[in-house]
Amino acid sequence: MTEDLDTLRDHLLGAIPAADSAEALEALRVEALGKQGSITQALKTLGKMTPEQRQSEGPRINGLREAVATAIATRKAALDRAALDARLASETRDMTLPADAPIAGTVHPVSQVMDELAEIFADLGFAVATGPEIEDDWHNFTALNIPETHPARAMHDTFYFPDGAAGTGEAPRMLLRTHTSPVQIRTMLDQPPPIRIIAPGRTYRSDSDATHTPMFHQVEGLVIDKGITLGHLKWTLETFLKAFFERDDIVLRLRPSYFPFTEPSAEVDVGYTIEKGKRVIGGSGGGWMEVLGSGMVHPKVIAACGLDPAVWQGFAFGCGIDRLAMLKYGMDDLRAFFDGDIRWLKHYGFSSLDVPTLSGGVGA
Ligand code: PHE
Repeated sequence: MTEDLDTLRDHLLGAIPAADSAEALEALRVEALGKQGSITQALKTLGKMTPEQRQSEGPRINGLREAVATAIATRKAALDRAALDARLASETRDMTLPADAPIAGTVHPVSQVMDELAEIFADLGFAVATGPEIEDDWHNFTALNIPETHPARAMHDTFYFPDGAAGTGEAPRMLLRTHTSPVQIRTMLDQPPPIRIIAPGRTYRSDSDATHTPMFHQVEGLVIDKGITLGHLKWTLETFLKAFFERDDIVLRLRPSYFPFTEPSAEVDVGYTIEKGKRVIGGSGGGWMEVLGSGMVHPKVIAACGLDPAVWQGFAFGCGIDRLAMLKYGMDDLRAFFDGDIRWLKHYGFSSLDVPTLSGGVGA
């Protein structure tokens, strides 16, 4: 018996890892653990043994059964993995082939407006810059002249990560960026002036109703050069809004305002008229709508980025993209933007083949 078991163990534990297919492995399993299997038979002999024999043979046979079961499971996992790898290697798909079905999806109005903004500002010599949505306190606030105790921090309804999420207590406090303004800082730290960039992207604030969603989109604008004045800011915004709304009768109103990172600061309203009971951007007979915040970059912000504010000046602006899309394309509930409702997307979406161009019309 003892010798038989040793031979059986050598045979099975040698053959199982060498099984070269799922079928061969299954045959070995049946041979050992099936109803008529050698180990099953050996277990049956326990019943006829004396208690003393059983005490010594029982653990040996059971130990062998466990060792064989484990070896089979291990080999099976390896064979499965190899089969999957082989399938993955053979089932390649050429993503560069043209689609054989008509393109069913549409471009979301937010993406469309971002493309329009990039097109308009590219024509004015602006590059597109990006930054992380998970920011640290310094880029989102401190470098923008919003120190720890500043009330603007509370105003921003910030989503903070739990303390220590970034590692040790020494690591910077992380948050979801509340505006695209930290991209101003990252750009000034990254590249020498002159700078002309726009930075479109997602931003986050803990806020939710018909006109606010916890995630929304902004576009930041930044110009840093020598001799930049408020006049450059006003001309740029006017040129941008005329191109965006595709009308020459756009009227701007700059209202004095306050942002910690600009001095002076101005909120910009655009005039509208009422046509057939609806608000239409252009003229100012109907009233004013606030579209963006702006100002001359604060000398402290320029200095925080290692530049000399006596040499370099600039302007910056920040604008809600979702709001721009609503004004231009006539949607009235912001929440529908993020519902993923295919009917809404079919109605308000754009063809992916209709790339906005200044010559062809950025309005699509
Ligand atoms: N970051 C500001 C906001 O989110 C907007 C802004 C940007 C104002 C740049 C001035 C200059 O409200």
